[in-house]
Amino acid sequence: MEKILIVGPASQMLGVRMAKELEIEYVNTEFKRFPDGENYVRLNIEDETNLANKEVIIVQTTGPDATADQNSRLFELFMMIDSVKRMAPAKIIVVIPYLAYARQDKIFRPGESQFANVVIGILNSFGIDELYVVDVHAPLLVSQSLCKAVNIDSMKLLADYIKAQGAEDIVVISPDKGAMERSRAFAKHFGEEIPVEYFEKERDVKTGEIEMSGKLNLKGKDVVIADDIISTGGTMASAIKIAKKSGAKKIYAAATHALLLQQAKFRILNAGADEIIGTDSIDNEVAKVSLAKTIADYLKFD
Ligand code: R5P
Repeated sequence: MEKILIVGPASQMLGVRMAKELEIEYVNTEFKRFPDGENYVRLNIEDETNLANKEVIIVQTTGPDATADQNSRLFELFMMIDSVKRMAPAKIIVVIPYLAYARQDKIFRPGESQFANVVIGILNSFGIDELYVVDVHAPLLVSQSLCKAVNIDSMKLLADYIKAQGAEDIVVISPDKGAMERSRAFAKHFGEEIPVEYFEKERDVKTGEIEMSGKLNLKGKDVVIADDIISTGGTMASAIKIAKKSGAKKIYAAATHALLLQQAKFRILNAGADEIIGTDSIDNEVAKVSLAKTIADYLKFD
């Protein structure tokens, strides 16, 4: 079936790269905010019948824009899906590399909304055919999707990049115990015997402040600290400081979704990291690893 890709406003680099990998036609969008704050998106096509009977792939990450506004990214996505729906496509495939609100998957304090479920519910209400996310913070969310939903793993790509930088005698560190399973899987991409350690992280659910502790002997080691998200960089910076004190030689701070909000870059480098590595899930200067081929491979064999 003929495919066409809609490059969402938030995934311009990734979208074009994916279309090139897939060797398919692609279109961009026109987008803006009205003075009252409402979003506007228009698919850049002149003839709505262009999408009829085609498999339409929409790519839009929902990480923050320059004004830290994730909601606009979500609304733009919903608008694009709505426009496509009207045009009688054979299939609508939605790729959301970074799924906003995935960290609000639980009730941490009485009175909160479990909003991650609402986001999936809205996507379900559109009746899309397939959904792809990447290293989603709460993997169980994909099971709430009513259509085929896949959580794509970016760990091999990040590990390959770090290996190519010449890292050796590696220790992988998980910034908290809960992420150990993911860190163990990540470490396997560096070799079967790579040690995996963790630091204890406590986050105050009211203030968001974190405290981290741990003691390891990392003398002469190249340390890779891997997380799914770097937001304000607090978690990474704390882990880096401990790793540095523990004797680490080189420190790589890697995350699938490097949102790098507020002072994150400063905090991470100031703590002692040699390099920050992210993917093009988030279109910024640390997006050194492209997800395009991996995502395209999933879409090719559909
Ligand atoms: C939380 O559980 C996530 O996996 C990340 O560790 C967290 O989102 C990072 O946030 P920040 O960079 O603000 O510490």
